[in-house]
Amino acid sequence: MMYHIGLLGLGTVGGGVAQILADPAGRHPLLKELAIAQVGVRDPHKPRAVALDPQLLTTDLESIVTNPAIDIVVEVLGGIEPARSLILKAIAHGKHIVTANKAVIARHGAEIFDAANAQGVYVMLEAAVAGGIPVIQALKQSLGANRIHSVSGILNGTTNYILTRMQQEQGDFAPILADAQRLGYAEADPSADIEGWDAADKIAILASLAFGGRIRREEVYCEGIRDITAVDIAYAEKLGFRIKLLAIARQLKGQPLEVRVHPTLVPLEHPLAGVNGVFNAILLEAEPLGQVMFYGPGAGAGATASAVVADLINIAALLPQGRASHPLLTCQPDQFVS
Ligand code: NAP
Ligand code: HSE
Repeated sequence: MMYHIGLLGLGTVGGGVAQILADPAGRHPLLKELAIAQVGVRDPHKPRAVALDPQLLTTDLESIVTNPAIDIVVEVLGGIEPARSLILKAIAHGKHIVTANKAVIARHGAEIFDAANAQGVYVMLEAAVAGGIPVIQALKQSLGANRIHSVSGILNGTTNYILTRMQQEQGDFAPILADAQRLGYAEADPSADIEGWDAADKIAILASLAFGGRIRREEVYCEGIRDITAVDIAYAEKLGFRIKLLAIARQLKGQPLEVRVHPTLVPLEHPLAGVNGVFNAILLEAEPLGQVMFYGPGAGAGATASAVVADLINIAALLPQGRASHPLLTCQPDQFVS
């Protein structure tokens, strides 16, 4: 069975996805059943890092989301519009959705999931939070037996990269941000990283999953790192702390849920203090599990494409044809009995 993908965007993330799909050997068997059928871009003549048939490229994104031959739409454009409208139109045309776009999910997730539920299609967003770390899947499934008491972590790779280099090299903010942009970590408008808005989008999504509700993005308190200087970082170190941009969602007994993002003095011996560079980490307090921490690359082409492709594999495995052709993905209990 082949699943045909409409890829909206061929930048850092879209390029990474195309690269993985073009080289399936040694990866999950379902990758061989995923084919890119059309790719939407702004400028089809731009030089690209990935080799793709130029005939697949189009600037007519509507033609992708309405194309009857396409099964799954991958939205890696960024921004709110046209991403939101294209996702909704794709859903209305019966397409499954994979998106890395936390801005659109944090603000319009309710509308998108309601539309998807009405149409009976999947919307997957592993890449939208913490790049390559499979925390969404963990919260939705693997930790399902737990009550979550708090979610706290470093959810923005760009700002963690900047803070780490400012601490290690006493470097200036602007050239380090330029490096983060060159490495493909930053948002198209890096204010989203620097002002904490990107981390706020992500914690709104994690809090919605962890605490079983729809957290309104505008209710997340948000303060970024623009005013942090190398001198602040050096003083903090002298006092035994590292400055980290933390995203926190927690519910103390009898209290309302707090969801916030701000620079925080983290004691040097705390596990989050040692998370450096583009790495992200999420520390969960769960009952009965206790503390669990997820750690890994939080941005960049490879890390993010890894999560997008994982979602594609999950959708292919969930579709009835996928199950039938891959019995190992849906082992029955008696298959484990020798
Ligand atoms: P990017 O490098 O700026 O790529 C965006 C792509 O979308 C480009 O190919 C661009 O076309 C295309 N595009 C944007 N707006 C368009 C429009 N109106 N019409 C047609 N094409 C349009 O962005 P990115 O870094 O890949 O990020 C994509 C999404 O993934 C964002 O939502 C971002 O937040 C999310 N994300 C990124 C990372 C990361 O590390 N970069 C990690 C996790 C999640 P052209 O190439 O022709 O300009
Ligand atoms: N700009 C984002 C970051 C990309 O730096 O974390 C990953 O979501």
